[in-house]
Amino acid sequence: APARQADPDRRPGSHKGFVEEMRFVAMKLHTKDQAKEGMQEESALPINEWRPAKEDYLQFLVDSKCVYEYIEGKIKSSDDETLARFKNSGLERTDALERDIVWFTDQGFSVPDPSKAAEKYVVYLEKLIADRPNAFLCHWYNYYFAHTAGGRMIGRMMSSMLFDGFEFDFYVWDRDVKEILAEVRKTIDDVAKDWPRDVKDDCLKETQLAFSYSGTVLGALAK
Ligand code: HEM
Repeated sequence: APARQADPDRRPGSHKGFVEEMRFVAMKLHTKDQAKEGMQEESALPINEWRPAKEDYLQFLVDSKCVYEYIEGKIKSSDDETLARFKNSGLERTDALERDIVWFTDQGFSVPDPSKAAEKYVVYLEKLIADRPNAFLCHWYNYYFAHTAGGRMIGRMMSSMLFDGFEFDFYVWDRDVKEILAEVRKTIDDVAKDWPRDVKDDCLKETQLAFSYSGTVLGALAK
């Protein structure tokens, strides 16, 4: 029998859809202390050693809001057909973050400006959306999905460490988040289904930068 040719367009997860391809790349970029599937060496400061102050958590919320607000504003105002598919996904976080930040104000905290890290991420995304809109999907996926996975773990940890278990709206969605994620996965798979292989690869290649930039936003807590 003729030797079976390896399909050069085959990527891990590609038989399931593009979300699975992006997830595969993302999981490998986790450190071993972050997730079971992580392949990177343990972070210099593993998350169970993080000891941020309340103010650091507030900074993290402000920075997160800066990024989500940019992304959500851009999607809302864009007439790009692909971006429009992500309008009202149910994953939007700007309003929830605004309420959480007001809660801090009510407790007497003053609200800091967004950090340089958050602003740099927004500048990067602005340019990416203009130059390589398909690659932007990778950041969209990683930023929102990371928040529902590791982000929620971090939120629970911070809340029990610093806020007596108080539940912030950042971690509350209008309906079951699993349901929202399932819908969004379908949308992403559908959006990317006819992308040529090189466009998909270009999008997958953004995963490293999605990690680096979100890592700098998480940096407010990693102390
Ligand atoms: C999934 C932890 C940072 C992107 C996960 C999962 C865990 C986790 C436990 C779930 C794995 C599973 O399905 O069993 C963490 C921790 C982080 C972190 C502790 C930081 C301290 C990041 C960052 C990104 C990211 C920076 C990218 C910006 C993702 C994605 C998934 C995921 C895309 C898949 C979600 C899904 O399949 O629904 N993470 N993560 N994570 N993480 Fe992270």
